[in-house]
Amino acid sequence: DTMNYVTGLSKLQDKVKEKLGVKKVLLVPGSFDKNESILYDIAKCGADYFLQVLKPEDVVSITGGSTMLEFSKALKTDKKYNNVTVVPARGSMGKIVETQTSNIVSIISKKLSSHYKLLNIPDELSEEAKNSLIQEPEIKSTLEHIEKTDILVFGIGRADEMARRRKLSDDQVEEIISKGAVCEAFGYYFNKDGEIVYKLNTVGIDLNTVNNVRETIAVFGGTTKVEACIAISKVDKNIVLVTDEESACKILESI
Ligand code: G3H
Repeated sequence: DTMNYVTGLSKLQDKVKEKLGVKKVLLVPGSFDKNESILYDIAKCGADYFLQVLKPEDVVSITGGSTMLEFSKALKTDKKYNNVTVVPARGSMGKIVETQTSNIVSIISKKLSSHYKLLNIPDELSEEAKNSLIQEPEIKSTLEHIEKTDILVFGIGRADEMARRRKLSDDQVEEIISKGAVCEAFGYYFNKDGEIVYKLNTVGIDLNTVNNVRETIAVFGGTTKVEACIAISKVDKNIVLVTDEESACKILESI
C-alpha cells in the first residue's frame, strides 16, 4: 500500500545516501527509462528542495541541458527574491537555444523575481581568446559572481554524450574515452573514481568553487547516467542528489 511504498522509498534514499557518501538523496517514484516524462517530477523535486534552502542574498549558479530546462519549468514560488542573483555556471554550448544556460538562467530569474547575469561567450575557448575575454567588464562581473556561488544546481552529463554535444574532434573524443572518462561536469572529465582525466579550456565555475558552495544540487534521470553520477559523487561529497527510483536501485547494484 501507499504507506509502505513511501517508507520503502525513504529507506532507498537513505541507502543510496550512505553508499554514495553524499549529503542527501531525494527520489521520485518510478523509472525514467520507462517513462521519460518523469523528468519533470525529478526536476520538481529538485526545485522544491532548492526553494527550501534558498536565502534572500544568495548567488545561484546553474548549468544548461534538458534536465535543467525542466528544473526551470518546474520551479514555482510566490515569493520575490529581489536580492538573489542567478548566473550561468558556464558559457554557451551548441546551437539549441532552449537548453542554453543563459535561457534557463532567465527563466529561473523571472520565476524568482531576482537579478541575473549572463555569460555570452562560448564555453570552450582558446587560451588567448579566454585571457582576453575575461577582462571584458560584463564577463568579468559575471565571473566574479560565479566565484561567490552559494547554491549550484546542475544536470549530470555522461562523458561520451557531452563530448559529442561539444562537437569535439574524433581524436579528442577517443582520447577522453580511452582515459576512462565516464562523466563531464564544468569542463572536467572524470573517471569512475572521480579523478580528473581530461580538462577543457572552459570559462565559468572551477572545481575549487564547486567544492566551497553551500548547497550543490545534482539532478538526473535514467540509468544510463548512473556511472556518471557515481563519479561526480566522489568529486563532491556535499552533493544533494535528485533522481528517479530505478536509477537509485541501479546505483546500489553498481557500487
Ligand atoms: O550540462 C548538461 C548536463 O550534462 C546534462 O544534460 O540534462 O541535457 O542530459 P542533459
